[in-house]
Amino acid sequence: MDTAFVKISTVLLLVLALSACEHTATGPKDMPLDSLAVIAKAFNNPEVCEPCHPNHYKEWRTSTHAYAFTDPIFFRLNEIGQQRSNNELDQFCIKCHSPVGSMLLETEPGFNPENLSVKARNAIQCDVCHSIETFERGKAIKTFRMDGVKQGSIPDPIENSFHASKFDRRYPVSFICTPCHDVFSPNDLQVEFTSLEWDNSPYAANSVECQACHMPAYTGQAAPDAPVRQLHRHTFLGVDIPLVDFPGRAETITQVDALLKNAVTMNVTVPGTVSGSEVFQLEIEIVNDKTGHSVPSGATFERQMWLEIVVKNEAQETIYSSGLLDSNGDLLTARSEFVKNGTIPKDSDLALFHGKAFTGSEETLFFWEADRVENNTIPPFGSKTASYEITAPEATGGLQIFVRLRFRTFPPYLLRAIQMDELIDDLIIFDMATSEKTVMVQ
Ligand code: HEC
Ligand code: HEC
Ligand code: HEC
Ligand code: HEC
Ligand code: HEC
Repeated sequence: MDTAFVKISTVLLLVLALSACEHTATGPKDMPLDSLAVIAKAFNNPEVCEPCHPNHYKEWRTSTHAYAFTDPIFFRLNEIGQQRSNNELDQFCIKCHSPVGSMLLETEPGFNPENLSVKARNAIQCDVCHSIETFERGKAIKTFRMDGVKQGSIPDPIENSFHASKFDRRYPVSFICTPCHDVFSPNDLQVEFTSLEWDNSPYAANSVECQACHMPAYTGQAAPDAPVRQLHRHTFLGVDIPLVDFPGRAETITQVDALLKNAVTMNVTVPGTVSGSEVFQLEIEIVNDKTGHSVPSGATFERQMWLEIVVKNEAQETIYSSGLLDSNGDLLTARSEFVKNGTIPKDSDLALFHGKAFTGSEETLFFWEADRVENNTIPPFGSKTASYEITAPEATGGLQIFVRLRFRTFPPYLLRAIQMDELIDDLIIFDMATSEKTVMVQ
């Protein structure tokens, strides 16, 4: 299929979608360029909303929804996906990460991120969420209302000079997040599960929606002359940290650290005393008692959560360890260069919680190509226990046991594999929980 045809057919589909929808502004339907103008007009830059909704704007600006089409890793993976699929991936990734960029036809395979318009770059912006018309779960938003009406959860919004408002009961509940927070691959295999995990949890049964944790309520005015009422934060805090200069990055790091420290509970059990040379058990239970879905969730193929254990004798010598990194920053799995070349043994005790994607029997870095996925994550109100057998030294004295539950958004081996080594130093490892115990050898 040549590019010109793809472009025109996309525009035609859009125009059809526009004309099929009752709220559609009646723009010229025959000329692609005019329908682009209709789209550009319907999706305002968030700066347009800022004077009346300064808090919403300020918070959204620092969010990963604003960052989703700035992220250099996203651009590289999308590019690799186009190359590996002969451009068949087409708009698959972009229809979630920047639906407006896709509709404006700025993101044809081979596009240069540096040439994107501000509108395309604004990713999941105000008008994307507030004009949702139809969608399919895990398959992005299908149609948007184009008449400028802003839908939301205020039942009795006051009038304003810029837009009409409409109460829509989808907005205060998790349903409105489902077009993007489950992900079905181009082969129709479900690869991300955040919404489904929530559906199957007691949070859904008790109506603790995504918004309760990711859009916490506060009291204030939505606009300068509006009444005081219950509003919702638009920071959409999660775990992702911008890897390039981005508004609010320093605050985001502090807030992610706090969120991750408040996501699970870690219980460490060891005997108080053991005999010299005795083999004893160290047990670490991780309970997902605070998160509305599995931990980690979503882009689990990229995330790493793992246990680091270091046991030291009286002389401060390490007698046991697991979960340490090699000098590339990688865990000692089959992905480590040092494990591959045999210079460091594999960490066979490693407790690593993440997702794996497979094509056939091979693990792949490219989740969208998978024909099978596996998640070693901890479901809501579930727990997982890691057990370690440790041999006490002969000599009597105290053994110190240091345990950390650690998290990072990307492993260095992935960044190396996609030639983005320069970002490795910017990766941050967060400690979700730490514990220190002493075992006496008698
Ligand atoms: C001229 C001021 C003004 C501008 C500009 C403006 N709004 Fe509003 N908006 C308001 C007022 C006033 C309300 C009603 C607030 C209330 O009653 O508490 C409102 C309400 C809303 C609501 C809630 C609707 C509901 O019923 O739940 C949404 C969503 C919204 N605006 C989105 C936007 C977006 C997106 C933009 C930018 C594209 C924007 N607004 C620009 C003044 C404005
Ligand atoms: C009870 C609070 C709670 C609820 C409800 C909740 N979350 Fe979360 N969410 C968290 C916490 C805590 C984290 C950080 C731990 C983690 O990564 O899982 C998080 C992380 C995330 C992440 C990043 C996951 C990762 O590991 O990369 C996404 C995406 C997310 N939430 C989306 C949602 C969506 C969508 C819903 C509703 C279907 C939802 N959350 C419901 C608390 C909650
Ligand atoms: C990812 C989707 C999403 C994005 C992006 C988004 N909003 Fe919202 N917004 C919501 C949802 C959902 C609610 C309702 C929350 C609830 O009731 O629990 C809401 C509520 C609102 C309200 C009603 C008052 C309140 O706080 O509840 C206003 C006004 C608003 N948003 C404006 C904006 C503006 C302005 C932007 C861009 C700067 C924006 N929103 C970006 C999803 C979004
Ligand atoms: C149009 C698609 C879309 C919709 C609708 C949407 N999101 Fe997102 N969301 C994304 C994408 C894409 C990202 C990843 C951005 C990134 O990290 O670069 C994201 C990121 C997040 C994160 C941060 C994850 C992290 O790892 O830091 C949270 C939390 C979140 N969304 C919550 C919500 C909630 C709650 C709703 C519903 C009110 C919602 N989203 C609606 C596409 C969407
Ligand atoms: C159906 C919607 C959807 C599609 C399609 C989609 N994503 Fe995402 N993507 C998301 C959501 C939601 C998140 C946030 C999950 C989380 O933080 O755990 C995300 C997160 C990511 C992240 C990690 C956060 C970051 O730093 O940006 C990357 C990388 C990413 N996506 C790349 C891709 C690529 C490449 C494709 C296409 C092969 C793609 N996505 C297709 C919704 C989507």
